[in-house]
Amino acid sequence: MTCKSIKICVVSSKGGTGKTTTVANLAGLLADLGHRVLMIDADVQPSLSACFALQARAEGGLAELIIAADCERTISATVHPDLELVRSNDPKGDLRTWILHQVDGRVRLKHVLERIEDRYDFIVLDTQGAIGPLQDAAVAAADLLLSPISPDIISSREFLRGTLGMLEHLRPLARYDAPVGHLYGFINKMQRTNDARSVVQALRQEVFAPSRGDISILDTVVPEAVAYREAVTQGVPVHRWRPARPVAPDAHPRATMLALVRELLPHVQTERFRSDLN
Ligand SMILES: Nc1ncnc2c1ncn2[C@@H]1O[C@H](COP(=O)(O)OP(=O)(O)OP(=O)(O)O)[C@@H](O)[C@H]1O
Ligand SMILES: [Mg+2]
Repeated sequence: MTCKSIKICVVSSKGGTGKTTTVANLAGLLADLGHRVLMIDADVQPSLSACFALQARAEGGLAELIIAADCERTISATVHPDLELVRSNDPKGDLRTWILHQVDGRVRLKHVLERIEDRYDFIVLDTQGAIGPLQDAAVAAADLLLSPISPDIISSREFLRGTLGMLEHLRPLARYDAPVGHLYGFINKMQRTNDARSVVQALRQEVFAPSRGDISILDTVVPEAVAYREAVTQGVPVHRWRPARPVAPDAHPRATMLALVRELLPHVQTERFRSDLN
């Protein structure tokens, strides 16, 4: 039996909100829970491509995946089981121009991924923090969208203006069989300050307006914590972060990431990992 993958695009019109961190941690957790996962680095700055060590580095990357529809020589294996990667290999941003000049440019990635979706349970796409044709292509390829929002007024306004504006701009893709997926925002890098709390409260009220039916803000809040940076240094997804001193299980970022998965993907079993943790 073949089974279609769920494609999740992590998106934000603002830079530095935590997109790449979210893709690495979400994809790494899903793989460790026993799923076959492909990460796609659709940012010209190849940050995601450097998050995990590679076991087998494919010759090609995103450019060949989109332009030549080459699904064989573009997928690298990371050192983590069942966690694969399409590297970003377009430093000059030529792909952006190429997509613009093709009639089917923005839906090309969607169609290429449809050819390999029986190989993966999840495909998780990272995007750059700026609106443009490559981000459009990644959004068009996804079933659902996930957007980290920093708990400050500038990021919150940018989410309401920029990210939601981008979705409106892409609605016409529905005519090409690429309807824009439901957008789940979540608070990332939450701080224990009154200002952060009041920004989050105002954002939730704004998004709950009846006109915003295809957007929601998740209850799960990801705190600002050094673990998210250290995990990258350790080359592991944050649920496998090794603290310098022992922490209580509910204080480990694993608890937060599991809560995020349960809320976003309620059908996923979250009890068993491939191997013992720490
Ligand atoms: N929950 C968190 N707590 C603390 N630091 C975090 C958290 N999430 C992300 N960071 C840090 O914030 C910085 C920006 O994160 P990241 O690179 O994931 O953002 P991005 O949205 O992908 O940025 P860009 O738009 O440049 O691609 C990184 O240094 C990362 O380690
Ligand atoms: Mg990034």
